[in-house]
Amino acid sequence: MRVKKGKRSIEARAVWFENGMVRMIDQRLIPQRFKVLDMGDHFQVAEAIRNMTVRGAPSIGAAAAYGMALAARNGVDLGEAANTLRGTRPTAYDLFYAVDHMVNSLELGDDPVKAADGYADQVVERCRLIGKHGAELIEDEQKIMTHCNAGALATVDIGTALAPIRAAWNEGRHIYVYVSETRPRLQGMRLTAWELYNEGIPHSIVVDGAAGHFLRKDVNMVIVGADRIAANGDFANKIGTFDKAVLCNELAVPFYVAAPISTFDFSIPGGNDIVIEDRSEDEVIRVGRERLAPKGSTALNPSFDMTPAKYVTGFITEVGILRPAEIDRVRREKFAGEGDL
Ligand code: MRU
Repeated sequence: MRVKKGKRSIEARAVWFENGMVRMIDQRLIPQRFKVLDMGDHFQVAEAIRNMTVRGAPSIGAAAAYGMALAARNGVDLGEAANTLRGTRPTAYDLFYAVDHMVNSLELGDDPVKAADGYADQVVERCRLIGKHGAELIEDEQKIMTHCNAGALATVDIGTALAPIRAAWNEGRHIYVYVSETRPRLQGMRLTAWELYNEGIPHSIVVDGAAGHFLRKDVNMVIVGADRIAANGDFANKIGTFDKAVLCNELAVPFYVAAPISTFDFSIPGGNDIVIEDRSEDEVIRVGRERLAPKGSTALNPSFDMTPAKYVTGFITEVGILRPAEIDRVRREKFAGEGDL
């Protein structure tokens, strides 16, 4: 991803391995500060996933892959390291997919860092293909709404929901992005807007409650990411996604979900079986350190919601655009070992 630094810009990934350390952009500080943290063991990586230094399903997966590489280099019991990393956040399926991938690679005797680098490179390549396929859906002068951050920060590089947007922009199409702010952690306002600013892509931040207002009159399509997609196409994504999907259905606005096949959990038949992470009420009732809610009030803070497949126009994946009914075909191909999905 491009990051402006004064008059010049640098290329960066959300997470990578360098000089024996896992390095990651501290996403809690963006856009006020651009700070890179170094981690030397899998416990630090696990804590970084838990406290959202690194977040977004594919980036969480890549961070966990690097965490497993550190565990292998440090001579730690791999089963214990895998359990520590798996226990950090419950909803993003890429986390479990990546840990399983690394356990298999390490059992085969692969070099730990090469295996994790290979995993991260594969994530980025999948995002590139998602961009290529998804850009074909976007016409000149279109306005696109997105929610949360499914950009490069969330996926090592490029993004899932932001991949078609970047690709359409780089192909010269004039587009405009409506960035839903995404209470309570504001990943839309802080992270997605920052990525779009760095690319020079025109955009505006809108409060979450304004989605219906803009979908009714301005927006041509919605593209969001996903944290876990069940076998029937029901999916979990950042809280506030379901509302947009229902609004799109009512207003006949196409609603797309961009995600790599590593986000599909074929072991779960439907969305009601997806575990939804509950986070601290402090994220809701405080802004910074200041408590804004009355002392006697409590808050509920589900981090994700579940959107039924019937609201999805299509899944933009690295193997093309899939209708919900086509997911089963991909599953059968995957388990028949046809192609590395
Ligand atoms: O809680 P977060 O910030 O990890 O949630 C991120 C999202 O919900 C993203 O939309 C999702 O992980 C897709 S990232 C490409």
